[in-house]
Amino acid sequence: MTDKINSWNETTWVSPSNIALIKYWGKHGEQLPNNPSLSLTLKNSVTKTQLRYRKLEKPVSDSEDLKVAYWFDGKRNEAFERKVIIYLGRLHTEMPYLQNYELEFRSANTFPHSTGIASSASSMSAIALCLVDMEQQLGLRKPPTQDVFRRASFLARLGSGSACRSVYGGWVTWGEDGLLPESSDRYASPLEQTVPEQWQNLRDAILIVNSDRKKVSSSAGHGLMSNHPFAEGRYRQARKHLNCMMLALQNSDEKTFIEVVENEALTLHSLLMTSSEDGLLLQPDSINIINAVRAFREKTGLMVCFTLDAGPNVHLLYLEEDKETVQQFIQEELLSFCENNQWIDDQVGEGPYKVEN
Ligand code: DP6
Repeated sequence: MTDKINSWNETTWVSPSNIALIKYWGKHGEQLPNNPSLSLTLKNSVTKTQLRYRKLEKPVSDSEDLKVAYWFDGKRNEAFERKVIIYLGRLHTEMPYLQNYELEFRSANTFPHSTGIASSASSMSAIALCLVDMEQQLGLRKPPTQDVFRRASFLARLGSGSACRSVYGGWVTWGEDGLLPESSDRYASPLEQTVPEQWQNLRDAILIVNSDRKKVSSSAGHGLMSNHPFAEGRYRQARKHLNCMMLALQNSDEKTFIEVVENEALTLHSLLMTSSEDGLLLQPDSINIINAVRAFREKTGLMVCFTLDAGPNVHLLYLEEDKETVQQFIQEELLSFCENNQWIDDQVGEGPYKVEN
């Protein structure tokens, strides 16, 4: 690969969003989680990011900002650009050579911005994957990294915690726990436990109750956990839930799976709404959907359950084999609770990939 001044090189990655079943909520130090989390990487909700880079004639000095431009949907996005400059500045020890390059990111999401879907996991993981590819292309990492995905997960975590899980497809864990021999607080890993076949490709209908930007940013929300009276109990509960989930996976135990997933979602919101006035993010239609999902499960006996992000939108998880019945239920009974009848039809996906040109 050429590394000449003035010649541009590029790499492009598509990276997905993910939805946590066991939530990361509360962190310390440099983006280290206070409890282990478990998530499903999605398939259709993705960010595509191209990184173009070229060597500068003169490196930027330690006191200057890195030379970065960030374009989103064809337009320069100065707000996100600022975040990326701060993020890349924080990677200085890991990637000191970034000072020698001019970097241009061009990015777009498949999911509309008007859905309130958090894009930090997909966008930060896409950036991290581009950076790791850049250092591979240029032979800048010495010794060459053994596992580029582990390194990308590590770098993505420094941008946004949940982003470190998006680097792998399927079921992914992040955060050290005795039950997960390969686990680390510093990067995510694919779940080692075998997942029952019919759960491997779970579907996720993202029901858009409200598309406004949320009042509490995730970072502020994590911060509120440090003085929260329930914090220690919550971290213990997350570990217990992980244990229950491992057993549920071993035994294909649908009831436990549903109990853990729904309890995690409601625990997140209990913590949120007892943290600050702005933490009351659930809306009447979120609750209407939750009640309708539970009634539908009771009536049909199907494996359907809900989970939530730090916002009012509801993720409905269900099996591929029940797709027709569940999507009919969504059309007939849930869409009236959604803003402009909006929902996103998603499912577990295989993780990020490089776009070869
Ligand atoms: C509720 O990863 O967005 O989605 O590390 O500050 O960027 P930062 O937070 P973020 O938090 C995600 C919180 C969550 C639960 C989860 O994804 O595990």
